[in-house]
Amino acid sequence: MSEFKKISSQDITFFRSVVGEQGVTTEPEALKNYSRDETPDPTLRRFPEVVIKPHETTEIQAIMHYCSQNTIAVTPRGAGSGLSGGAIPARGGVVLSLERMNRILEVDHENLMVVVEPGVITNEINRKLKPYHLFYAGYPMSLETCQIGGNIAENAGGGKAVKYGVTGTYVRGVEFVTASGELLKFGGKIFKDVSSYDIVHLLVGSEGTLGIVTRIYLKVLPLPRARAVLLAPFDDPAPALHLPVTILSEMGMTPASIEYMNHLSLEYGYRFSNHTYPFPEASCHILLEIDGQEEEVVYREYDCLGERLFQEGAKEVFVADNAVAIEDIWRIRRAIPEALHLALPQEINEDISVPVASIPELVTFVEHLGQEFHLISPIYGHLGDGNLHITLAGSQNDQWEEKEPLIHECFYSKVASLGGVLSGEHGVGFKRRKYLPYFYHPEEINLLRRLKAAFDPQGILNPDKVLPD
Ligand code: LAC
Ligand code: ZN
Repeated sequence: MSEFKKISSQDITFFRSVVGEQGVTTEPEALKNYSRDETPDPTLRRFPEVVIKPHETTEIQAIMHYCSQNTIAVTPRGAGSGLSGGAIPARGGVVLSLERMNRILEVDHENLMVVVEPGVITNEINRKLKPYHLFYAGYPMSLETCQIGGNIAENAGGGKAVKYGVTGTYVRGVEFVTASGELLKFGGKIFKDVSSYDIVHLLVGSEGTLGIVTRIYLKVLPLPRARAVLLAPFDDPAPALHLPVTILSEMGMTPASIEYMNHLSLEYGYRFSNHTYPFPEASCHILLEIDGQEEEVVYREYDCLGERLFQEGAKEVFVADNAVAIEDIWRIRRAIPEALHLALPQEINEDISVPVASIPELVTFVEHLGQEFHLISPIYGHLGDGNLHITLAGSQNDQWEEKEPLIHECFYSKVASLGGVLSGEHGVGFKRRKYLPYFYHPEEINLLRRLKAAFDPQGILNPDKVLPD
């Protein structure tokens, strides 16, 4: 394990000389805000020794040059809305918060590109693009609070990934500062690029362990003129869980979203949002979103999908085709994660991704696992991507410390046997790094370590993340 230098008053003086008095924080109360992300687990908290908030790329270069000279740990941070402890300073040192680097530098509508800094709140990009009838499609569910730099660090995905893909689909270029303070640029305002190794997409999803992204080139799309959301309650979850195969493969249609919410997850969502879906007693609800440039095409698609949902056993199909009604349906879905985090003191909260046709088997397995360990299992998420958010929660006095490793072992062994991966959306971060060996052979983990060493030989960038000890 690398040794990092503790921050001294001399270091603080240097940091202040670079970013100014206001840009350097050492107050314990203020540091607390940077000691956690949105992961509910109270063991995932670590205090930084100092928080630095640069305005400019050149300041980040100076800070990284100094920290590499002095072997100081640096954890880059966006809005802290992550769910795997990726932004917590595991080894203390510096938290480098990108919150002041929040400029939208250019909207280049002719080239369908937007150039942004990492601290921009993700949905600000869409607000800026709206007058141009453009939008950025890679945004995640937390779009009003997260920052685009954090989305890139985690390769965040959202509710529309079935049709539009995730953050990385739209990142066409990045500028980043290396661990030693150099500024590098790969890609740009281009749609295609096979000029060398794909460094852009190595940075995307690297969780702040390879470099600090300071400028991002995002591809944008024409804003769809028509949208509709279908909501379908089911008594039998089996045909509902099979819907990705039915819709994507058999029907050959690609909705923007195919979301699943089981009864239990919705109970928490209802309580938190103070709203309910019709048929709240149903065993699960499916949410489908369709969009396109022509209303008639969207209408035809939802007619066709609605008919099929009935054939598959939906008790009813509700259609929302105006912005308010669409938002009313999504609001309950979006409330579920926070409702679960607040309500369940101890929980296994996973974010795996499996081949879509394996989802029914996985969900049945999780329900049996829950019964075996006397746990409840709220399950919801991005069914159409094979990426579900799975919670297994028990009561506080129920020998949780002994059970938890065993449950994780059973769960991850099953996910791996289905050809699945450790995380589909929230990343490995601090929380899941010890589980990497369930999914990779030692030689594969060695390659990851060599890559990390090529970018950051001293290991000062976001230490103790992603890779296991
Ligand atoms: C969601 C976040 C938790 O799907 O990924 O709501
Ligand atoms: Zn999600």
